[in-house]
Amino acid sequence: MNLTQARAALEAAPRVAVLTGAGISAESGIPTFRDAQTGHWERFRPQDLASPEAYQRDPQMVWAWYAGRYRDVLAAQTNPGHRLLVELERQKGAGFFLATQNVDGLHARAGSGTHGGRLIELHGNLMTARDEQTGQIVPLPAPDALQLPPLSPSGNRMRPNIVWFGEYLPEAALSAAQQAFQTADVALIIGTSGQVYPAAGLALEAMKAGATVIELNPNTTELTPLISFSLRETAGRGLALLLGREEEGGYAQHV
Ligand code: OAD
Repeated sequence: MNLTQARAALEAAPRVAVLTGAGISAESGIPTFRDAQTGHWERFRPQDLASPEAYQRDPQMVWAWYAGRYRDVLAAQTNPGHRLLVELERQKGAGFFLATQNVDGLHARAGSGTHGGRLIELHGNLMTARDEQTGQIVPLPAPDALQLPPLSPSGNRMRPNIVWFGEYLPEAALSAAQQAFQTADVALIIGTSGQVYPAAGLALEAMKAGATVIELNPNTTELTPLISFSLRETAGRGLALLLGREEEGGYAQHV
């Protein structure tokens, strides 16, 4: 498969399922997890920050890390990659499904999930916290009013609303994503290293069900040899090429 064929497959597809990872927010200045030098997991061990055990040991330290990321995300802006996925949703309507592993809320801020399609945040969201007793999900106050650990309206301690290592993804979210990937005509796998399951498995389920699976990533990943076609591009430029929108985000001069 080449770019022209991938573009034609996407254009003709009534049902498109998209999986995004940290790479789509890299152009918004948000660090990924596994990229050399800049990735979070190059500097920290995931089990020291993103696990129930770490939180039990030192809730204040875990909260301090998530609160810092919350501040950074609020200061960041959406980028052409996020916006081109909104454009794709406008084209496909109810046939569009976006599952993101990102917790930065930038897809929602760009407008994904409000143009007839669906947006599912598989790993939770930095802008909210969860009551440890009742499970209620509550928006965090603005960063300058944020006290750590935050308390829910019922006065209980809240934890970050993030799926940590060793925890299950919300069942309804995962099964909706699995159904969308198993019935998609085209699946786009954007900016993820494909190392974290079950999210990475969505690409393989789509492949198994006969979809055309297209990866957008400047680097090869563990999924690369297993799928239909890989575009070695950043998310923004790759989506602009796939959607025939090279003018978006000033990409025209590079094409
Ligand atoms: P990773 O950091 O593992 O992978 C990021 C991917 O983005 C890499 O394959 C990069 O090559 C690619 N990338 C970098 N810049 C890019 C760009 N401009 N455009 C497109 N791609 C680019 O991040 P994820 O795959 O999202 O989980 O990681 C999956 C999960 O592991 C995360 O959701 C997180 C983490 O531990 C939790 O926190 C629960």
